[in-house]
Amino acid sequence: MSLPVPTSSPSAPLIRVRGLHQYFGQNHVLRGVDLDVQSGETLCLLGTSGGGKSVLVKHMVGLMQPHSGTVEIAGVDISRMSERQLAPVRKKVGIMFQNGALFDSMSVAGNIAFPLIEDGVKDEEEIERRVCESLDIVRLPGQQDKMPSDLSGGMKKRVALARAIIDRPECVCYDEPHAGLDPITADTIDKLIKQLQRDFNMTNIVITHELRSVFRIADRIVFMKDGQVYWQGTPSEMKASTDPIITDFLNGTDGKDGDWDHS
Ligand SMILES: Nc1ncnc2c1ncn2[C@@H]1O[C@H](COP(=O)(O)OP(=O)(O)O)[C@@H](O)[C@H]1O
Ligand SMILES: [Mg+2]
Repeated sequence: MSLPVPTSSPSAPLIRVRGLHQYFGQNHVLRGVDLDVQSGETLCLLGTSGGGKSVLVKHMVGLMQPHSGTVEIAGVDISRMSERQLAPVRKKVGIMFQNGALFDSMSVAGNIAFPLIEDGVKDEEEIERRVCESLDIVRLPGQQDKMPSDLSGGMKKRVALARAIIDRPECVCYDEPHAGLDPITADTIDKLIKQLQRDFNMTNIVITHELRSVFRIADRIVFMKDGQVYWQGTPSEMKASTDPIITDFLNGTDGKDGDWDHS
């Protein structure tokens, strides 16, 4: 079946989320999220733990369907698509999961090639060439035959990124790419994120708690609270904000233990 023709124009957002609600039993996690992601920007998604950031991003890549509301990718509503209809969407928007989510029993090459093979690519030479290119981009040339257990935490994240970009998506969502990394390795990830934006005009959506990274990479920041977008703006607007929730967050009393989360 044919999909609606995208209505994107240069100014239309690549991703448009409207009125998104998601429940898990009694847990009303997303409470009417409205958000636009512009093509080619690096957007950092901040907020308290358990606030629904990962759940929101899963809706943006079609891994979850909302109870109500819409997610449009380049003008096409994906929120009620079947798995088959979602296949081309998944090529547009990739995801790098929180823990990297590599298959331990597969080599680096096998992990990176996985989306291509799922997609029906059979030409061994093409697969090899594209794995090689992806590894070059994340600056891990020649690591094809290693197993995930041979890799450091930072290298695993870069392999996960190589897998996320193997099909040259327009957008990559990163779920806590800095978690568990030392500052130098976290810097390497930041440089890769900006390099992808620069070299491929890739749109980046980065969930992170690392403010140091946020102020280095973000073009725009979105702060979520209580299942909604609470604040959005540029890094300098965030630094200048006098909103007590934002200033508390920047000062590190961000309620990770939920102290103001339910007040
Ligand atoms: N698949 C799921 N089933 C049930 N509850 C879930 C599921 N995924 C997330 N949740 C719940 O949704 C809330 C938001 O989770 P999440 O999006 O992971 O938060 P975070 O902002 O830390 O990424 C949490 O209360 C979490 O327990
Ligand atoms: Mg999360």
